[in-house]
Amino acid sequence: MNALVTGGLGFIGSHVVDFLIANSFDVTVIDNLSTGTKANKNSRAEYIFKNVEDVTPNEIGDFDYVFHLAALPRIQPSFTAPEEHEFANVIATIRLLELFKESKRLKKFVYSASSACYGNPAITPTPETEQIAPLSPYALQKYAAEQYCLILGERNQIPVVTLRYFNAYGPRSFNPNNKFNAYTSVIGIFHHQKMNGEKLTITGNGLQERDFVHVKDIANANFLAATSGLSNRMYNVGFGKCFSILDIAKKFNHPYIFIPERKGEAKITLADISKIKTELGWIPEINLEEGIQSYADYEKVN
Ligand SMILES: NC(=O)c1ccc[n+]([C@@H]2O[C@H](COP(=O)([O-])OP(=O)(O)OC[C@H]3O[C@@H](n4cnc5c(N)ncnc54)[C@H](O)[C@@H]3O)[C@@H](O)[C@H]2O)c1
Repeated sequence: MNALVTGGLGFIGSHVVDFLIANSFDVTVIDNLSTGTKANKNSRAEYIFKNVEDVTPNEIGDFDYVFHLAALPRIQPSFTAPEEHEFANVIATIRLLELFKESKRLKKFVYSASSACYGNPAITPTPETEQIAPLSPYALQKYAAEQYCLILGERNQIPVVTLRYFNAYGPRSFNPNNKFNAYTSVIGIFHHQKMNGEKLTITGNGLQERDFVHVKDIANANFLAATSGLSNRMYNVGFGKCFSILDIAKKFNHPYIFIPERKGEAKITLADISKIKTELGWIPEINLEEGIQSYADYEKVN
């Protein structure tokens, strides 16, 4: 089995690469290193350093599975450069889908979507049927790209599954050289701040609540989405519990300060994960305490 992983040098994509290789897949990665890093390379994968939107069919050939994670994935930067984000998040996705519309081989196209599409949801835990109410260009773009995957997939016989991640965290979430690192997972930021003897920075009053799902569980969700016989559907990928940012900070037993609130971000994210549990048999296995510990464990061996 061979797989193409876009964004495979980023946080989540690199864990998807590792998971696939551990399950005997041959993996090719496309990444332009805009937010990713070569430090996340897996020595058994092939790498093409290019923009997804510029790749030609001859350069990559055909695949059994495509995992599309490449994106400019941060809410606040998408307000300052919406056009650049539209290109990376939407146009690149359309072009990638075009590359596979004649494929006789492709078994599944798995798209990394976002729970940001729900905005401030009226219903929590939030099911996939909740109203779409994006609060930022990023949220809108991820929803648009998801719908392109489903609509063009249906028309062009590309079996698509989209995974709406809630708040991903785990090793590699904080890349010190990433220009957007202030907007990456708060758990990775807190871990980095504590290791550097800095105070933890809590945005707003810290009472905003988030559903944190560990990146290893997300990699497994990608694997199950690809290998199940089901397609043309979307799933929430969260833990199904939420914690306030203040509660998370307290778990670090380290001094903290408050910094200004950011506009355009949800007050609460909490996934209803009954659909993915029932249909794909996916269950998140790593709880928050284990997940926080996973940063230190990873650093010990890397
Ligand atoms: N991290 C989260 O909490 C979260 C939540 C919901 C959805 N997602 C989605 O998951 C995916 C991965 O997010 P992440 O947190 O790992 O981000 P990341 O920034 O760590 O990884 C993105 C990767 O894509 C690459 N990339 C970006 N634009 C590219 C392009 N045009 N061509 C080639 N490569 C490109 C970057 O260099 C990087 O390696 C994204 O699609 C994101 O929208 C993430």
